[in-house]
Amino acid sequence: SKLEVIRNFCIIAHIDHGKSTLADRILEICEAVPKQKMREQFMDQMDLEREKGITIKAKAIRLRYFSKRFQKEFIFNLIDTPGHVDFSYEVSRSLAACEGALLVVDATQGVEAQTYAHASLAIAQKLTIIPVINKIDLPASAPERAKEEIEHILGKEHPPFFLVSAKTGAGVEELLDAIVQYIPPPQAKSDAHLRALIFDSSYDSYRGVLLFVRIFDGSVKRGDRIRVFSTGAEFEVTEVGIFNPKMQPTELLEAGSVGYLACNMKNIRDARVGDTLVSASDPQPQPIPGYKKVKPMVFCNFYPVQSEDYQRLKDALEKLQLNDAALSFEPDFSEALGFGFSCGFLGLLHMEITQERIEREFGVEVVATAPHVVYHVLTTRGDVVEVKSPKDFPSPTEIEETEEPYVLIQIITPPEYIGGIMELCQARRGIFKDMVYLDAERVLIKYEMPLAEILLDFYSRLKALSRGFASMDYEFAGYRPANLVRVDILVNRDRVDGLSFICCKEQAYHRARQVVSQLKEIIPRQLFAVAIQASIGGKVIAREDIPALRKDVLQKCYGGDVTRKRKLLEKQKEGKKRMKAIGKVRIPQEAFLAVLKSG
Ligand code: GTP
Repeated sequence: SKLEVIRNFCIIAHIDHGKSTLADRILEICEAVPKQKMREQFMDQMDLEREKGITIKAKAIRLRYFSKRFQKEFIFNLIDTPGHVDFSYEVSRSLAACEGALLVVDATQGVEAQTYAHASLAIAQKLTIIPVINKIDLPASAPERAKEEIEHILGKEHPPFFLVSAKTGAGVEELLDAIVQYIPPPQAKSDAHLRALIFDSSYDSYRGVLLFVRIFDGSVKRGDRIRVFSTGAEFEVTEVGIFNPKMQPTELLEAGSVGYLACNMKNIRDARVGDTLVSASDPQPQPIPGYKKVKPMVFCNFYPVQSEDYQRLKDALEKLQLNDAALSFEPDFSEALGFGFSCGFLGLLHMEITQERIEREFGVEVVATAPHVVYHVLTTRGDVVEVKSPKDFPSPTEIEETEEPYVLIQIITPPEYIGGIMELCQARRGIFKDMVYLDAERVLIKYEMPLAEILLDFYSRLKALSRGFASMDYEFAGYRPANLVRVDILVNRDRVDGLSFICCKEQAYHRARQVVSQLKEIIPRQLFAVAIQASIGGKVIAREDIPALRKDVLQKCYGGDVTRKRKLLEKQKEGKKRMKAIGKVRIPQEAFLAVLKSG
């Protein structure tokens, strides 16, 4: 049958282990694009869309491979997977669109945290995993060591190891024959109702949302009526096609194949990654399992550096959201930083990428506050409040219980750094789960840890104490009970909204002392004494005082004009009183930033 010649696969690897280079070699052998245009063609976009600042990535590329060994032509669908842990759900959905995966490991580096994380996802999807050891052209390559480490993850039952150099192309053709030999062709029912997995999407200003789909059953063509399984919304298909590597419309997308589909959809939130498209006429549609609506896990606020850039910042976020269903934002006002947005992200990298794109692609400079998580508060009334900002944190008397998000982190490190890493994890409230030697030089350590603890500088600390050798990855592990409090900062007894923060009770004293002493350094001395206090539910837990700046008013009076002196002293006292009565201290913006950025 037609399906016999199809192979759907993806490449998974730790960063820099050679995924893109290998994809380039594969494209070259399959002669999809002329050599010199290789990289820009595969990874890149169509010119028109690029000019408009909207990018369409080749999320899946269709290749023809003529195998000399099997004397037959095959169709390969190479599906792109996002490289980073923040997008692990998307990775798992891309994997779900495939029957197999190439697990690429750099022979000079061995297995790293993302090798492990991605391989685990592929194992969970029951894919055929072909282990590929790359960079064998380098003198430092140690393929035997890499093999041992890989077998710790994959076990003994797997296709043979393939040793390649993606750079020189050595071994790549043999690898393509291995794809034919070991990765099974898709199993699909062509005559059944449509069942298609959405594994990615993108916004196009002409065609509306483009859905990237793997057809599991049935087929789809222009004019068909389809339904998004989880929402029930129906659409008429206006175009179907494949990436060749540019988008190329086709008559039909058949069972087992991979391609794109347009249906006049206006918003990428109307059909999310992982959802199933079914035929509108199917009386009993069955979804493809595994759909989740992803929620932002990490929040931070963006403010324009120039307040007149507010509208441009809003436009930038709206544009980015067109192609990013996981990005959320809502307007926010801060006493100190003015008008801005509270934004939600999948993780730290997602946040950094977004900020960078706003600055680079839209030319808007932003101030970002420290990232924070969403807490759950069970109130005495019995409802659950999702707390995204300290100002939403209920008062202590209304709180029954609080919860915070946890992650399972996986660290891979040379053994000499185990001690330091465990100390770091323990200090961050980590709960030890597991430790496995992958070989004599590599240890996999697992901890459960509050997400909030890794948002603050955890990765750079890990890198520093392991001299760059440790790598890490993490996955969400659910909400757990925590003892959370809101710490307010009072300046001369006035609560300063923008400075409140939420943390666990054990850390409250330490954090509070840190913040008040930081503020003491930053707030300039005033004409009156300033008390900086930190409090929990009205109870003061830390305090610093900034003494009054005693302006030497008398110096201005030459000689002994007593009445003048007295007048001046009166004036100074009055000034003090007025300032105290207002209770407003001029706090420089940097003070807020220092606190908000340190988290
Ligand atoms: P990300 O896109 O950052 O995830 O990286 P990647 O996994 O796609 O790696 P990429 O293909 O960009 O390769 C990383 C670096 O390794 C590049 O400088 C490549 O030129 C180099 N590289 C890849 N494969 C080989 C190889 O077989 N031999 C040698 N010597 N270098 C290689």
